[in-house]
Amino acid sequence: MLDKKVVELLNDQVNKEFFSAYLYLDFANFFEAKGLEGFANWYKIQAQEERDHAMLFYQYLHNNNEQVVLEAIGKPDVHMETLMDPLKAALEHEEYVTDSIHKIYAAAQQVHDFRTTQFLDWFVKEQGEEETNANNLITKMELFGSDSKGLYMLDNELKARVHVAPSLVL
Ligand code: FEO
Repeated sequence: MLDKKVVELLNDQVNKEFFSAYLYLDFANFFEAKGLEGFANWYKIQAQEERDHAMLFYQYLHNNNEQVVLEAIGKPDVHMETLMDPLKAALEHEEYVTDSIHKIYAAAQQVHDFRTTQFLDWFVKEQGEEETNANNLITKMELFGSDSKGLYMLDNELKARVHVAPSLVL
């Protein structure tokens, strides 16, 4: 049996990951309307990854005979005007998720729940990658985004992203 507080935080994380998926779908939605299919593709794939994350937390709780409570998912409310707005919001959001994962880790550590800390190790690493990706995209946009040819090429590059199932298997 897992600690009550740890279960509560893991359950909250299911919702946060589904919200992340919804948020990134809204970013895809924004870029789709601008005719930037590559950026839209990038964020649609990102949304798929977030659903994967949500399902990993869901499955982990079930594997430990814990109930999962599915709460309402919030409305994405990022104000998007410039092409940079969603990119900056994505980095900020990933930093928030990293902090959230770290808080669950700390709670699990406090009660010597090594099963959960081991499960979360994958997410700690994943969050490092997520922040790097978000940062890199901002850098590329700063470098090439103000030039139409550069933007066209960057959009083409982002079209190539494909969904890769998570390496963590439960
Ligand atoms: Fe599920 Fe982007 O963190």
